[in-house]
Amino acid sequence: RRSAADFLPPDVDDLDQLRGAAAGCRGCDLYRNATQTVFGDGAPDARALLLGEQPGDREDVAGEPFVGPAGRLLDRALAEAGIPRERTYLTNAVKHFKFVPPERGKRRLHKQPSAAEVSACKPWLLAELRLIRPEVVVLLGATAGKALYGASFRVGDRRGTVFPLPEIEGVEGVAVATVHPSSVLRADDRDAAYAAFVADLRVVAEVLA
Ligand code: URA
Ligand code: SF4
Repeated sequence: RRSAADFLPPDVDDLDQLRGAAAGCRGCDLYRNATQTVFGDGAPDARALLLGEQPGDREDVAGEPFVGPAGRLLDRALAEAGIPRERTYLTNAVKHFKFVPPERGKRRLHKQPSAAEVSACKPWLLAELRLIRPEVVVLLGATAGKALYGASFRVGDRRGTVFPLPEIEGVEGVAVATVHPSSVLRADDRDAAYAAFVADLRVVAEVLA
């Protein structure tokens, strides 16, 4: 089966080299309609790696993760929890934007990646984890959790708790699960959803303290 593994340079020891290789990835069909690969970005020595789902419309155009509305909410929540964004590394389970074809003049709407697409893209994530070696991985939503723990992962069972990372060679850290920042933007009670999101991020701040 085709995957990102076909595009991963052997013995990669540098994030820029990894990013360069990912720019040409055709490990699944998502590269066809997206603008570009949106690779992870942030501090190479980050102690916290934040894992989202996939780039959104704005990220697809900018080529950087979490620069749209969900990213702005995440920035604010991180600051409130006492975690400087510039000291983190931000990435996504899937590196190309998947969307439903827009109606004329309409914005492109995000479509959830399939398990096969998450699996095809996982070699990039594993390589990022091996190079960053984070102490804590923050799982932003169910897709992030499923990418590392499999299809049975549920955010509701785990949010705000600290649990071991799956076995990944060279990586020793823990994970903390929370919701995806875009779910906070969609929530009926946005203030409560935001407060709960910040509370989960404070658990991450405690791990880093
Ligand atoms: N949502 C994500 O999961 N990732 C991004 O980069 C932006 C929005
Ligand atoms: Fe490659 Fe991932 Fe993009 Fe698919 S989504 S083409 S596996 S980078």
